Amino acid sequence: MDVSGLGYLDPGTPTEGADAARTGFAIAFGYQPDLVGRAPGRVNLVGEHTDYNRGLSLPIALPHATYAAVGRRTDERVRIASARSGEVWESPLDELGPEQPTGWWSYVSGVLWAMQQPDQDEPPVTAPGVDIFIHSTVPLGSGLSSSAALEAAVAVAVWALAGQNGYEEDRARLVELCVRAETEVADAPTGGLDQAAALLSAPGQALLIDFDESSAFDVDLHLVDHGLELLVVDSGVSHALVDGGYGSRRAECERASAELGLASLRLATLADAGRLDEPLQRRVRHVVTEIARVNQAVAAIDARDYVGLGAIFVASHASLRDDFEVSCPELDAIVDRAVSLGALGARMTGGGFGGSAVVLVESERTGAVSLGIAAAFRDAGWAPPRFLRVTTSEPAGLV
Ligand code: GLA
Repeated sequence: MDVSGLGYLDPGTPTEGADAARTGFAIAFGYQPDLVGRAPGRVNLVGEHTDYNRGLSLPIALPHATYAAVGRRTDERVRIASARSGEVWESPLDELGPEQPTGWWSYVSGVLWAMQQPDQDEPPVTAPGVDIFIHSTVPLGSGLSSSAALEAAVAVAVWALAGQNGYEEDRARLVELCVRAETEVADAPTGGLDQAAALLSAPGQALLIDFDESSAFDVDLHLVDHGLELLVVDSGVSHALVDGGYGSRRAECERASAELGLASLRLATLADAGRLDEPLQRRVRHVVTEIARVNQAVAAIDARDYVGLGAIFVASHASLRDDFEVSCPELDAIVDRAVSLGALGARMTGGGFGGSAVVLVESERTGAVSLGIAAAFRDAGWAPPRFLRVTTSEPAGLV
């Protein structure tokens, strides 16, 4: 079968990514960087729109990653440049924060700002003046968490540059810093899933995150041993978390828990959902059933029941499409075509309103499924989707 024309998106190796970041840094700033941080994108296997409801999620870290080359400056300024944009953004350190104009660089400057904020348990860390160059193989706006990869790559590098040598022990704090950067400086009202996935995942494992207890556990995946793989399909419909759709779903969930008199929808039941008007009724039904599906997925993985896991993917997609209403025709087409071509399961992943779907498939069928999805897009007159064959990878760290 000729799948060569599909062009699976190559993540490259960490060494290649770090070299590209170092070279870009030297060209942009005229000297060699001190350190390179790397952080992975993520694909969430199940547990969507549950993080800000204090629920459960089950992401994996992708081999596609963002690299931040950083160099210490002798003054109190920050300069930020990237392989994707020709401009260099520059600011004094003490002018960073929620008031500054937003743009892609605010995910970076937000981390420097967040480090310096008082934390209830820990003293603030003085961010050094730095030059930062970004190189990334995570596709942008594809629901694969390019923003959190950017924040986490910068966080691990600048944390080390600031002399915080024990960043392995500081990962939970770095998750918090990255969340503050995203929600308070970049102004995206997201829920913490992406930052936890980037900083806490382990190779070979999915990460079971409990947002009520702020805890995370590794779940052994064993996909390769069973001849299976995960195929990610980027619909090409761009999603933006700073647009209104994501925020309005979050606001609906907050309204529902207030009407029910609950601290969060983690405590809600299907009977509670039934007491609400539409659309809140369906929103709560999604959250309650999706949290249950995360537990079912972990049980299926533990029992090596991958047919069962695939069925959970499909049920999750239907719930996101019909009850939470965050899918789109392109994502529905990917899921329908993948399943009709024999994939074990498929679902949209991430915030929705575009972005990517994840397909659980026997490795020997990946080519046929990819070609079938590409053909469905052609027939519908849509731009070609992009494909990523994904394995799990290392969490954020220095390269
Ligand atoms: C985006 C957000 C996450 C999470 C997912 C949906 O990725 O950044 O916080 O809410 O959507 O599960």
